[in-house]
Amino acid sequence: MKTGTPRHFLSIDDFSYAELRGMLDQAGALKARLKDGDRPKLLDGKVLAMIFERQSTRTRVSFDVGMRQLGGETIMLSGQEMQLSREETLADTAQVMSRYVDAIMIRILSHADLLDLAENATVPVINGLTRRAHPCQIMADLMTFEEHRGDISGAKVAWVGDSNNVLHSWVNAAELFGCELTIATPEEYSPEKDLMDDIRRAGNAVRLIEDPREAVEGADLVITDTWVSMGDVDAAERRRVLKPYQVNTNLMALANKDALFMHCLPAHRGDEVTDEVIDGPQSVVFDEAENRLHAQKAVLCWAFGIETN
Ligand code: CP
Ligand code: NVA
Repeated sequence: MKTGTPRHFLSIDDFSYAELRGMLDQAGALKARLKDGDRPKLLDGKVLAMIFERQSTRTRVSFDVGMRQLGGETIMLSGQEMQLSREETLADTAQVMSRYVDAIMIRILSHADLLDLAENATVPVINGLTRRAHPCQIMADLMTFEEHRGDISGAKVAWVGDSNNVLHSWVNAAELFGCELTIATPEEYSPEKDLMDDIRRAGNAVRLIEDPREAVEGADLVITDTWVSMGDVDAAERRRVLKPYQVNTNLMALANKDALFMHCLPAHRGDEVTDEVIDGPQSVVFDEAENRLHAQKAVLCWAFGIETN
């Protein structure tokens, strides 16, 4: 990171292992303190603006509550209500908002637009999901795996289904954290070029195949996500092609006996996952959702340069 550049949190592959490990450690410490009723006001007086160009439940509520617990405040904005919807540029928006608030969190489909905002902001920008990446989600996922099973390095992780933003951030994390990630996705929805480049760069850490059974065999963690992400237009065709990639009890039975199941939520029960799996004993989806709160508090502290526990 250049001196003087704001501490943006845009993509997992912008970071070193040590930086992300530091944030995960702080997330764990903040979680433990909260459970003891201790809410350190580390971000007293800070204001986070949140811009949502798309729907959200977890990202919206967890960032809002996280800021409040740390003594900060939030402003909730939707792209539709802002002059962005009347063609004010992201560059101008970034410069204006940087004069008012201490950080910006944004959910916007175009990753290029996120980068444009970050390039022009003089305060930290946090990626709350783009079509390319969902780094906050993966911080919560890593934290959740390690709470249940310890150090994730060397763990066998299976991704089953569509190749999307959550997968992209998992590919970046697998490379950094030394997991063995196997991706099973149909040829019709195979990774786009940018993701393919990162899969190749990850070398032995990531394997791309088509057979979901082969991917799940012996896995310590099985992950899936919706077949129709925000911005996808071909919902019916996706459901048809991705049907063999449903995570059900038969598929889970091929994984290790104590394998965990994860899904970033919202889930489409009966499509990518059955009720039996998502409500079953191996599922940690609500721990994952909870950990968004703790992981993002650590990301916020990092962005503001407050890294001591
Ligand atoms: N997982 C996740 O980002 O959920 P939301 O879309 O509800 O924020
Ligand atoms: N892949 C999903 C994640 C939602 C949190 C989407 O982009 O819609």
